Amino acid sequence: MASWVDIPPSSDFSLANIPFGIISTSDEPDPHVAVAIGIYVLDLKVLAANIDLPKIFTSLANHPHVFAQPTLNAFARLGRAVHREVRTTIQDLLSSETTRPEILRDNETLRQKALIPQRAVKMHLPMAIGDYTDFYAGYHHAYTVGVMFRGPQNALQPNYTHLPVGYHGRASSVVVSGTPIRRPRGQILLDPQSDKKEPQTSPTRKLDFELELGCFIATPNEMGESVSINEAEQHIFGYVLLNDWSARDIQAWEYVPLGPFNSKNFGTTVSPWVVLADALEPFRVRGIENTTPLQDYLKEEKAENVFDIQLEVDLTTPEGDTTTIARISGRNLMWSFPQMIAHHTLGGCPLQTGDLLGSGTVSGPGGASGGECGSLLEATEGGKKEVMLAGMDVRKFLKDGDTVTLRGVCGPDGARVGFGDCRGRVYSAPVSK
Ligand SMILES: *[C@@H]1O[C@H](CO)[C@@H](O)[C@H](O)[C@H]1NC(C)=O
Ligand SMILES: *[C@@H]1O[C@H](CO)[C@@H](O)[C@H](O)[C@H]1NC(C)=O
Repeated sequence: MASWVDIPPSSDFSLANIPFGIISTSDEPDPHVAVAIGIYVLDLKVLAANIDLPKIFTSLANHPHVFAQPTLNAFARLGRAVHREVRTTIQDLLSSETTRPEILRDNETLRQKALIPQRAVKMHLPMAIGDYTDFYAGYHHAYTVGVMFRGPQNALQPNYTHLPVGYHGRASSVVVSGTPIRRPRGQILLDPQSDKKEPQTSPTRKLDFELELGCFIATPNEMGESVSINEAEQHIFGYVLLNDWSARDIQAWEYVPLGPFNSKNFGTTVSPWVVLADALEPFRVRGIENTTPLQDYLKEEKAENVFDIQLEVDLTTPEGDTTTIARISGRNLMWSFPQMIAHHTLGGCPLQTGDLLGSGTVSGPGGASGGECGSLLEATEGGKKEVMLAGMDVRKFLKDGDTVTLRGVCGPDGARVGFGDCRGRVYSAPVSK
């Protein structure tokens, strides 16, 4: 599939992708809907205002203002069939062999207005997120961290292979890529070996990132009704990269018995473009095998239930040296998003349009020596070892001024389906009051 738009072969945003996001521009300062294509965005608010919308996007006949909204929630709520029609219509309009060349390809006036270089737009958080749940489906991460805390005999809790473990995260602290992240202060046990369990309050000394995949809910389920495993796909809007910034020393002191709290509620970064569920379909693979007999509600028809996304983590020092510190495949999950949705709603919990589910940290089987760690906690064995960086630098945990960039891409050059950057720079903690 070739496009009449000039798309660099290495672009995350080929014609095979068409991810949705929220932009603002100098001409249209109110946030609204666009898709990414090569180094451009196609401004869908401008497009919709200049064409016969119901004739071109038949499924949007009753939703003429859906692209003028400040979030993607209204569009997501319309469901997978509408997302599919809109995406394939946009692919047709942007294709070299478009069936409607007069609409955009051959109309220079409209092209000038609607096709805008990405560097000239500001990206916003794509969804209004009512609730955010973070799971722990990255088997290798769960295992390695389990060994660190409990030894190899009890690395995984007995329930780990029976249910996708999750905790409720803080939706208000989810921010779009590029937003600076402030080092949090918190209660820390400075000397965990000492008999005296006396904490101090100070900036975290163990600030970390977590490489995750995020999933946005499209259509809700009613309270009291569960979503069955094989229907769960129909409730998914699309995917983003997610950095679940974590303060390990705060986490260690607070997490038993109710899970992480202040160690993870000071910032979670997501990539700005939502890659639609349909765009990832060609990249389905089997996840990590789970030999435990599953409860019926978790048995999925599709064996290929995760995605072969090439994920990577870059760390840029305050001096500007960048090192790729991890390369991991997205196939390293033991639980799929449909399984997470079936489990989340088992007791009738209502998921709503715009809710965000995190996969949990994705790490590969290669561990620290293989450069397959989705967090510094694993890569440094809890701060015992150092990660080597360009510019003769090293890290155990993140320093102020460090930038972490997550990337993810599927498919070959020229037909890539990628997420764009999920980036955040750390700045100093507030001075104590
Ligand atoms: C091109 O698009 C503009 C709107 O931007 C419209 O006014 C014009 O009629 C279109 N030209 C043709 C030939 O359709
Ligand atoms: C999992 O099992 C462990 C050990 O039996 C228990 O301590 C923990 O609370 C359980 N966790 C969940 C999420 O059920």
